[in-house]
Amino acid sequence: MNHPDTILIVDFGSQVTQLIARRVREAGVYSEIAPFNAAAEAFARTRPAGVILSGGPASVVDADSPRIPDAILHAGVPMLGVCYGQQALTAQLGGTVERGMAGEFGSAFVDVADGCALFDGVWTPGERHRVWMSHGDHVAALAPGFRPVAASAGAPNAVIADDARRIYAMQFHPEVVHTPDGARLIANFARHVCGLTGDWTMAEFRAAKIADIRAQVREGRVICGLSGGVDSAVAAVLIHEAIGEQLTCVFVDHGLLRAGEAEQVVGLFRGHYNIPLVHVDAATLFMNGLAGITDPELKRKFIGKTFIDVFEDEARKIGGAGFLAQGTLYPDVIESVSFTGGPSVTIKSHHNVGGLPERMDMKLVEPLRELFKDEVRVLGRELGLPDAFVGRHPFPGPGLAIRIPGEVTRERCEILRRADAIYLEEIRTAGLYDAIWQAFAVLLPVRSVGVMGDARTYESVLALRAVTSTDGMTAEAFEFPGGFLARVTTRIVNEVRGVSRVTYDYTSKPPGTIEWE
Ligand code: XMP
Repeated sequence: MNHPDTILIVDFGSQVTQLIARRVREAGVYSEIAPFNAAAEAFARTRPAGVILSGGPASVVDADSPRIPDAILHAGVPMLGVCYGQQALTAQLGGTVERGMAGEFGSAFVDVADGCALFDGVWTPGERHRVWMSHGDHVAALAPGFRPVAASAGAPNAVIADDARRIYAMQFHPEVVHTPDGARLIANFARHVCGLTGDWTMAEFRAAKIADIRAQVREGRVICGLSGGVDSAVAAVLIHEAIGEQLTCVFVDHGLLRAGEAEQVVGLFRGHYNIPLVHVDAATLFMNGLAGITDPELKRKFIGKTFIDVFEDEARKIGGAGFLAQGTLYPDVIESVSFTGGPSVTIKSHHNVGGLPERMDMKLVEPLRELFKDEVRVLGRELGLPDAFVGRHPFPGPGLAIRIPGEVTRERCEILRRADAIYLEEIRTAGLYDAIWQAFAVLLPVRSVGVMGDARTYESVLALRAVTSTDGMTAEAFEFPGGFLARVTTRIVNEVRGVSRVTYDYTSKPPGTIEWE
């Protein structure tokens, strides 16, 4: 896909590089990330209007530290250096960087000393602003052409500017929410410094992608495996808009979905969009195969493999296809920089339907591979998918199987499904659904004694989990308002036979994971 107005982000391995890309896109400008040692090629390919140099764990004081490729440094395009990016710019353009006696980590304040294009309409000289710092080294002597425009206690050159060359750099991280004005500084770089208009919209993306899909597929046939999740559904609807009946969707229903989910997918695709859909009810096959499996990884492996087998059978039945569509997202394809054992590049490849394209000799159609999760939701709404579908919490591919520690049986799936439905219904009624990243119940392989009426019960324990998160990589337990958990517990124990006790899981990630298995 051709993006004439791109900002290229050169990744030096910061944990938060992706946030820079998001802030740029929020400013209505398309952005791509390239690891520093593949940045020269990406620069030549994208011909960006500006470059942002990320932070990173290395020290420019070290001889073998990563560098900005010369082809980028001397190209004359506007640049914004962030933290390590600032230090690399300084060192490579003739200034000096020193190892600090004491670094700054966490919240700090900068005093604005002078105006510059980055600050337009955001910061004024004489003001003091909160920023988020995380650095050991600092810029000791500026490279020729630069002037300091803001200072902090630990970094006299907290922000530096070279207006003639349109190069700006800052010691703090503007991309994190702890720098309250950071997003506006990044937007200023994109618009005022690089001169971009900020008109990259989902409507434009949709139109451009449709053209791309038509050009790639031509008269070919595409098969799309639906998982019940948002990503594959959005990919399918977009592809259908591009090529209509050349697309067939295959929904492998493994019987491990939440209450009402399969009906929702079928209703949406057949009823609402009239997209050709093969609905395979494979619950018996999956349930029989899961008998006796208790190890979480073995469950995942069995489900993944069986999914592919069933999908492959169905694909053959409908006469095969040259293309396989997947809802792969940008975070799955970003090449990540790793500094363990020296700078190296590892490519995270994620296949929703692992191994299938090679096995069936199919080419991939991945229309979402440039988007972040929240952008997929925006695209889904743009395509007319209902809010209730697009805004759904993430759900793992292996489904309820990894929320039933121990052996998975039809009966235990049913108990969990009913309890989970009550929990989610109460969350929706309380208006809390959108404040939570993921909420679900887990049916534990533990039994506990209870009394109901005059009788003693001895049934399973259920754990409730709800977390907040921005990307699923870290998570905090959600704090429900007083009385909520008691209400849900009472309903579940009263209404779901097979559950005698309910607990709430307060573990954050790390050290825990979001799922129990
Ligand atoms: P964890 O449990 O690793 O989960 O903290 C992070 C996010 O990933 C989801 N998850 C999965 N998704 N297949 C998937 O498609 C899986 O095997 C799987 N395991 C975890 C989880 O629901 C959470 O959103």
